Amino acid sequence: MQTQIKAITPESLRQAKNIIMDGGVVAIPTETVYGLGGNAFDDEAVKKIFEIKGRPNDNPLIAHVHSDYDLSQIIDYDPPYAKKLRESFLPGPLTLVYPSKGRVSPYVSCGLDTLAVRVPSHEGAQAFLRETGIPIVAPSANLSRHVSPTSARHVFDDLQGKIPLILDGGNCVGGIESTVCDCTGDVPTILRAGLVTKEMIIRVVGACNEYTPSFAAGEKVKSPGLLYKHYAPRCKTLLFSSENRENAISAYMSETLENKGIAVLCEESAIVEFEKVGAKCFNLGKNQAEMANRLYDLLRQAESVCQVLIVLEPREKGGIMTGVLNRLRKACASEDIPHESK
Ligand code: TXA
Ligand code: MG
Repeated sequence: MQTQIKAITPESLRQAKNIIMDGGVVAIPTETVYGLGGNAFDDEAVKKIFEIKGRPNDNPLIAHVHSDYDLSQIIDYDPPYAKKLRESFLPGPLTLVYPSKGRVSPYVSCGLDTLAVRVPSHEGAQAFLRETGIPIVAPSANLSRHVSPTSARHVFDDLQGKIPLILDGGNCVGGIESTVCDCTGDVPTILRAGLVTKEMIIRVVGACNEYTPSFAAGEKVKSPGLLYKHYAPRCKTLLFSSENRENAISAYMSETLENKGIAVLCEESAIVEFEKVGAKCFNLGKNQAEMANRLYDLLRQAESVCQVLIVLEPREKGGIMTGVLNRLRKACASEDIPHESK
């Protein structure tokens, strides 16, 4: 199969709609990362998405809808605080998990009785969702466990030959995936940190919990995706906390004796220390938004030139950095976190 990359025009949108209505998949831009979209009502299309990505079949998908879509068609219960969150943050990088009405394909939520719904703000995504008029399930458009894509080129590098069409909506501004927030309890609970932060949610609805998965045997995990290694570049990575800059420099020195393809990924203010020892550095940036925006592109650049990447965590924590650090740590994790119940 040949993979076309097309700018978003009335003609490419029509082509995308035809592919979707025929049970196919299309890569689409969003303000966070690119998604691999298919018809949420179509079992075969949903299964195809899992297959193409090599995604574990217990990791549920997010349904994407346009901003005027009538949610009551697919969700069963809408708590008042969810309405407030929608009014404040949507369209935008916040995914809300509701009790499902069970109308979409059962493969979407992998047996959970909930449905994650997202209203992206990217104009091209909105145009595509309006064109199709139906909920579109879309995981990030990368091979499972690889770095998420923030440009049409990244999608092409992972999925060429496997999908017919990539709608090119430019580079994603947000750079990390949406915040996933469970709305089935009394208080919203963040399942995956992202660009809409805990602090922002608390300001609007007064309270917000954070979910930390328990790995105890037999315990049901709320968001199974949390268990997998994710976002990983195809090179060895060595991660150092921000206080361990000296150790990161020593690691650079000892690795460089054996390896030519070695580089450092760190925030802008740390670069000067590494350059003193001759290191090639990837500049993550100087503020939170910049670091989120650049992270995945830099991990992809690094894997194409490095055997070893030394990663120094940025100093700032909280806010968007919760999501950025979570991605960095998973990208540098060695294995899946053990899932003892299976
Ligand atoms: O920004 C984003 O959210 C991007 C763009 C394409 O919209 N999509 C994305 O999808 O990141 P994906 O499939 O890579 O991640 C979906 C996350 C996973 O962590 C999954 O476990 C969680 O959402 N999720 C999906 N449905 C869920 C549900 N019913 N309950 C709990 N977690 C759910
Ligand atoms: Mg993903």
